[in-house]
Amino acid sequence: MKTKTIYSCQECGYTAGRWLGRCPSCGAWNTFAEESVADVKVVNKAKRSRESKAVPITDVGSSGAERFLTGINGIDQVLGGGIVNGSVILLGGDPGIGKSTMSMQVAGSLAKSGKRILYATGEESSAQVALRAKRLGALHENILLMSETDLSVILKEAKKVKPDLLIIDSIQVIFSPELASAPGTVSQVRQCACQLVDALKPQDISLIIIGHVTKEGALAGPRTLEHLVDVVLYFEGDRFADFRILRGIKNRFGSTNEIAMFEMSSTGLKEVSNPSTFFISHYATNEPGTVAGCVIEGSRPIMLEVQALVSKSSGFGAPYRRAQGFDNNRLTLLIAVLEKVMGFSLYDQDIFVNITGGFKVSDPGVDLAVAMAIISSFLVRPIEGKSVVIGEVGLTGEVRRPSQLEKRISEAGKIGFKNIFAPDKLADIKVHSIQEALLKAGLMV
Ligand code: TYD
Ligand code: MG
Repeated sequence: MKTKTIYSCQECGYTAGRWLGRCPSCGAWNTFAEESVADVKVVNKAKRSRESKAVPITDVGSSGAERFLTGINGIDQVLGGGIVNGSVILLGGDPGIGKSTMSMQVAGSLAKSGKRILYATGEESSAQVALRAKRLGALHENILLMSETDLSVILKEAKKVKPDLLIIDSIQVIFSPELASAPGTVSQVRQCACQLVDALKPQDISLIIIGHVTKEGALAGPRTLEHLVDVVLYFEGDRFADFRILRGIKNRFGSTNEIAMFEMSSTGLKEVSNPSTFFISHYATNEPGTVAGCVIEGSRPIMLEVQALVSKSSGFGAPYRRAQGFDNNRLTLLIAVLEKVMGFSLYDQDIFVNITGGFKVSDPGVDLAVAMAIISSFLVRPIEGKSVVIGEVGLTGEVRRPSQLEKRISEAGKIGFKNIFAPDKLADIKVHSIQEALLKAGLMV
């Protein structure tokens, strides 16, 4: 019998009868991989085979939701108070960001509190993992290590040793022998995750699945995984900067509005005790082009430093407009507002904007800080005093309230900023338009 093959997009799971260069569903390029039709049938059958009976909701006990703390504060907070017994956590992030490190630290901390952990690694040898555990101070006999990529072997072992927590590092290298497709393909990833969840939930074994993120920023293959698991955590940050942010994307047992910040050190990840001031520790006030701003990450305010450099363009071609850690389109828009509404002539200026520390901002609450940094650099005039600028800029130059403004203002005050620019009466300097802000900062007369 001829084995038929289909092609499926590794980003979104779209399937087609032939190879395609571009996925018609998600638009990604070169993401199609060959998989066998038989595999897809196995996966679909596994999905269908679960049967159950309806019961009145009042008869359902809620006792199952017992939690245990990992002992690492930030992680416990992001999880909403520790790991729920029998829950499934997907930990995603770029390669090299520290997923294995964090998992081993969690394992070490839990092991010390008497939990049993089974750490299945398919990416590294046991010796490598043990060496890392030693460096992290996580060496403990309660951590059982196996270097294995065959899912059936891992499940058999889990049944035997009955751990409290199973860590799979990573889902992309694990394969189910029932399928012919290569490890890391959509069918394999989906099938392995399904089998893991089905096998471990009844045994009350909690599970951490590590998954790599693709270039485009989605968990590889695994959009399809996100609905299977209880909690989705993303680990992000700049590989060349030390800080890392752990973010809850989905949480069936708590709020997703939490983040934790860590610093990568020679002995593993250390929790940042004061995330709100982490990025402004080197902040130099009274420098032209430098302005402090404030963003909300999760539910906490984080102060950061916006730098702008405006310099005369060479005159050949269009001037440069480059942003680091800030959206380029947003930068173009702010420049247009400064030109049209405020009348600054920036058309012959190269403009560079940088959020220091490698932090990436998506919060529009820094708009006004970016705009003021640009003008401050353009005029070579600093914003005097210990100032912080908060506000979103609209197309007509009006300054709008960003979310949770009171929180930002009170945090800035606590840290010791003296001149808080914001569109609110709580602020030291109340501003409702860019013009008002520039006037009050002494950047315009
Ligand atoms: P790792 O956890 O292996 O990343 P992932 O599993 O997400 O691919 O860690 C990656 C980086 O962290 C590695 O390049 C080295 C660095 N690192 C430290 O700086 N200190 C440490 O103690 C450890 C274990 C790793
Ligand atoms: Mg790893």
